[in-house]
Amino acid sequence: MLLPFVFLCLLPAAVPTATPPLQPGYYTKTCPNAELIVRNVMKKAMIREPRSGASVMRFQFHDCFVNGCDGSMLLDDTPTMLGEKLSLSNIDSLRSYEVVDEIKEAIEMACPRTVSCADIIVMASRDAVALSGGPDWEVKLGRKDSLTASQQDADDIMPSPRANASTLIDLFAKFDLSVKDLVALLGSHSIGNGRCFSIVFRLYNQSGTGLPDPTIEPKFRRKLDKLCPLGGDGNVTGDLDFTPHIFDNQYFKDLVNGRGFLNSDETLYTYWKTREYVRRYREDQEEFFRDFVEGMIKMGDLQSGRPGEIRRNCRVVNDGPPVDLVLERFKDRKKLSY
Ligand code: HEM
Ligand SMILES: *[C@@H]1O[C@H](CO)[C@@H](O)[C@H](O)[C@H]1NC(C)=O
Ligand SMILES: *[C@@H]1O[C@H](CO)[C@@H](O)[C@H](O)[C@H]1NC(C)=O
Ligand SMILES: *[C@@H]1O[C@H](CO)[C@@H](O)[C@H](O)[C@H]1NC(C)=O
Repeated sequence: MLLPFVFLCLLPAAVPTATPPLQPGYYTKTCPNAELIVRNVMKKAMIREPRSGASVMRFQFHDCFVNGCDGSMLLDDTPTMLGEKLSLSNIDSLRSYEVVDEIKEAIEMACPRTVSCADIIVMASRDAVALSGGPDWEVKLGRKDSLTASQQDADDIMPSPRANASTLIDLFAKFDLSVKDLVALLGSHSIGNGRCFSIVFRLYNQSGTGLPDPTIEPKFRRKLDKLCPLGGDGNVTGDLDFTPHIFDNQYFKDLVNGRGFLNSDETLYTYWKTREYVRRYREDQEEFFRDFVEGMIKMGDLQSGRPGEIRRNCRVVNDGPPVDLVLERFKDRKKLSY
């Protein structure tokens, strides 16, 4: 009689919880300068190259949507694992991985093996927004880094710039993110750039019609046609809004004027279910900031429940193959000294 009783009592304590609750100030005792270090490296990176703020900020979306915020998108491919870096939405598009390397290096120097790469992404995204003139907020921390990554999972989940608002609403609902969260979070396109590759279809062949997307304002379309001629270089980039280094509500003003860069952007205004939020954020930047922060915190709460670790190097798992064996195509890798 005693044995099963004891067993039942011990069970909850003995099974390690795969997803411990996240909390603000998680590193206060173990790495008190963690947040300061991240912010300082982000500051330096954004002085060196202003766009790197946007590029790093985007990481939170691409990390958290694919099996939770677990740093999986930072893993380089190995001979036995195809990770997320070469997935459809990330290849030739995600950039500034080296800024995360730089942050990790500085953090490892101060507090070895303590701060996860997943938390670095969440801190750095917040810092990029704050340093661009957007809101500043307290982030919850305590995430673990994944032991694996999957190109297939990223391909299955990440949305295309061709997507319309109705498709995006359904996608976000899968993560318990509301229509309001969707519109507010897409306000992150207030900073950064996109490639011609992501918009040529809407300039010349929207929905297979052979015609341009009629919702693009004509003067803006002539500008985009010039930037992205048919058959031109798909890697040329344009600004996602008219103030691409300032985190503000200009993005929503642009959408109302038919000057959204991506199809997925402009449909937030042309679709009735999202239009009202676009109008509100265009009028009230403070409301946009509040809802954006709420959305970022919700998105940061996404966790896979899988076991994890604190990676020493964000690009490889701790007992993975030696870094030199990792495939050579990730050319921006810095020489790391640990
Ligand atoms: C909801 C659907 C979304 C779609 C379809 C989408 C799609 C895209 C695309 C196509 C680009 C340009 C990439 C390229 O052309 O190479 C881009 C850039 C960007 N996205 Fe999104 N995105 C979405 C949501 C988000 C969210 C939720 C965030 C962050 C919270 C975000 C942050 C960014 C940032 C900051 C950039 C600029 C990056 C840079 O300049 O390097 N996006 N997005
Ligand atoms: C949105 O796109 C999906 C998939 O391409 C399509 O089936 C749907 O009809 C579109 N919805 C609207 C409202 O345009
Ligand atoms: C436009 O798109 C349709 C459908 O995707 C395709 O069949 C057609 O070949 C495209 N036209 C051009 C000029 O690319
Ligand atoms: C962009 O550049 C990469 C790397 O140089 C190249 O492999 C790719 O084909 C280019 N993409 C487009 C759409 O032109």
